[in-house]
Amino acid sequence: MTTASPDYLKTLTLYYEEEIEGEGYFRAIAERLDTPDHREKMDLMARVETRAAASVRPLLEKYGLTPRCADSLRANGRAQAAGKTGAWPVLIAEMQESFPAYMDDFARLEAMAPPEDLPALKELTAHEVAAIAFLDRESEGMDDSAAPLRHYLATGTA
Ligand SMILES: [Fe+2]
Repeated sequence: MTTASPDYLKTLTLYYEEEIEGEGYFRAIAERLDTPDHREKMDLMARVETRAAASVRPLLEKYGLTPRCADSLRANGRAQAAGKTGAWPVLIAEMQESFPAYMDDFARLEAMAPPEDLPALKELTAHEVAAIAFLDRESEGMDDSAAPLRHYLATGTA
């Protein structure tokens, strides 16, 4: 087995935790939206976060890494969502602005990783590609803008 650096293991754990936080975040946003279509889309985002976390969970187990408790991570995510009270187009635009930076983070994580970890990490990265594709389609008013999210949930690929 290739040696995994402390920095890699710390980042892997942090990103896993952030996906669980993201699950709580999108769930909280979904719950306070009035439009069923919007609620459904944020619920899909929550499920995509759950799936992204699940894709790297075996790596945490392999290295004996213990993430923070899932319930408190979800609660953190919910707390972060409390400040997000903008209208739907504003929410989408804010995510469109902030999400591409995560692509750089995931690319850096892959670059640090032992090669045997890459299949799981690529599944993590793919969730961000799917999310960004959804946001772009949603902002353009496309029909079935959430298709990339469903595709990711079904396949683990973007
Ligand atoms: Fe995520």
